[in-house]
Amino acid sequence: MESLALVNGKLIDINENIVPMEDRGHQFGDGVYEVVKVYNGRCFALLEHLDRLHCSLRALRIPVIYTVEELIEFHELLIEKSGITDGAIYLQITRGVAARTHQFPELVVPRLTMSIRTSGANNNKLREQGVKVIMIPDERWLRCDIKSLNLLGNILGKQQAKEAGCYEGVMVRDEHVTEGTSSNFYVVKDDVVWTYPATHLILKGITRTIILEKLAKQLQIPVLEKAFSVKFIKGASEAFLSGTSTEIMPVTMINETLIGDGTVGPITRQLQAAYTNLIDQECKRQ
Ligand code: PDD
Repeated sequence: MESLALVNGKLIDINENIVPMEDRGHQFGDGVYEVVKVYNGRCFALLEHLDRLHCSLRALRIPVIYTVEELIEFHELLIEKSGITDGAIYLQITRGVAARTHQFPELVVPRLTMSIRTSGANNNKLREQGVKVIMIPDERWLRCDIKSLNLLGNILGKQQAKEAGCYEGVMVRDEHVTEGTSSNFYVVKDDVVWTYPATHLILKGITRTIILEKLAKQLQIPVLEKAFSVKFIKGASEAFLSGTSTEIMPVTMINETLIGDGTVGPITRQLQAAYTNLIDQECKRQ
């Protein structure tokens, strides 16, 4: 099977028409989501993703009606019944189904949809060679820390990057470089890794937390959560992106400027190797 879906705990075919007209996710984007990678039939960093899901739900005042145990069970059910060993699970929770009014409806129950798919393009070659990114204005709202279904700024930015022949659009707000349209962004300067602080202006990526709190510590690489400008990047020796699907992706060119000598740098390589090891430890151990 290449894909399978689940609605409110029940398995369904992914092509079934299941979104009710009055679902607030459909009408307003009034909901949250998560994406978890599956390696070797196991979810990677699932508890961290479920913890962030609860933070997003609370921030939007959507009632929490599923326990962590139930959500783990749904993830495992999708893996087991689909037979997919390498892929990704998407999960959305909307505020529920109610006649369209902006204010929260009364007596409404949140709606859960989930789906599993095999991994699409294998980006290993790009992870070896590095990618080109484009700088774009950050036109999103001011609560980018919530993983909400509203992704208009992100999709417009990603499309702009694609049309410029780039892998990612890296966004700039108030002259500071915030993050990619679906990834966090880092530069290395004088052997220190710089990344935007985890404020309401970026998504605090699970991969970012793993890099900062586990991998960089293990490798004794200094990291700094501090805003930096586009001009600052000009003197950087390395740059990279991180994300659940992106993993750790080297950036070798920004707009038309090479980063360092245009090859993947040693700090990025070390972090990539440590990340692969961690996936092996968590998901490939018997
Ligand atoms: N995107 N920043 C943004 C804006 C993102 O959309 C994502 C993830 C990240 C990285 O977060 P994490 O490490 O938790 O995946 C940062 C997901 C994968 C997506 O929308 O498909």
